Amino acid sequence: MGSSLTIKGGVLLVAVFLVLKFGLPLFTAPLPMSLIWLYLFLTTIGIVVFGTLSGHSTEALLGPIFRFLSGEGIGGATKFARVAVLVLFPLLVGWQTYSGLVPSSEPPSENRTIHPAPPGEFVGLANPVANTPENVMQGKGFFSAFCSPCHGAKFNGNGPASDGFNPPPANFVDAGTIAQLQESYLFWRIKKGGVGLPVEGHPWKSAMPRWEVELSDDMIWKIIMAEYAGSGHKPRTWE
Ligand code: HEC
Repeated sequence: MGSSLTIKGGVLLVAVFLVLKFGLPLFTAPLPMSLIWLYLFLTTIGIVVFGTLSGHSTEALLGPIFRFLSGEGIGGATKFARVAVLVLFPLLVGWQTYSGLVPSSEPPSENRTIHPAPPGEFVGLANPVANTPENVMQGKGFFSAFCSPCHGAKFNGNGPASDGFNPPPANFVDAGTIAQLQESYLFWRIKKGGVGLPVEGHPWKSAMPRWEVELSDDMIWKIIMAEYAGSGHKPRTWE
């Protein structure tokens, strides 16, 4: 064994690191760094257990480390390396701790699914209300009363109350909202609101109210027709 046990241990650790970090990704998905640290930790424990089986091997494994740290009987370049380690290590730990604790001004990344799949019972529902001028007019009246404070009298998401909300109320004139959606989808979103959004993609933090208590289905369908008429879009269909 001899005094090279320390070196063998070091080489083994580096080899395990290289295999896990660069070798494994050639065959399968890369491991998260936390798992690699865990394996290195376990390898270190293995090395120490093996190295301390006898008094002789203990000295072979730990002797060089203790002599290096205590500075006993070493000289020249090794002495310099020792000072460098003793200075740099606390700095590194301090920096790690600091950067872990310092509050960040970056907003947490959120990938909100803008249009999650509606629950099955809403898929493919057709608007049962006849698309007559009177019904659209009625729908516009309901829209002004219930929706325009947030979604705006011009259907552009710019209502007087809109500033306070993040995510902002949907802009129905924009090509990215109801122009892409089917009427059944709107029916679901209006009936169930922000709280009715599915669990995946949380946090939603949507201020969109749940209208099923205040508004009858009939009123909701009329509002949907009014939204399309007012925004100048047509509902998406599968034809
Ligand atoms: C308190 C403010 C508020 C009111 C009042 C409100 N909404 Fe909303 N609405 C929102 C917000 C915020 C969003 C965006 C977040 C989301 O998708 O849930 C939204 C989203 C929507 C969407 C989804 C659009 C899309 O692209 O997915 C529809 C449809 C909708 N609202 C219709 C209505 C209708 C109809 C009314 C009136 C009956 C109404 N809203 C009233 C705040 C409001």
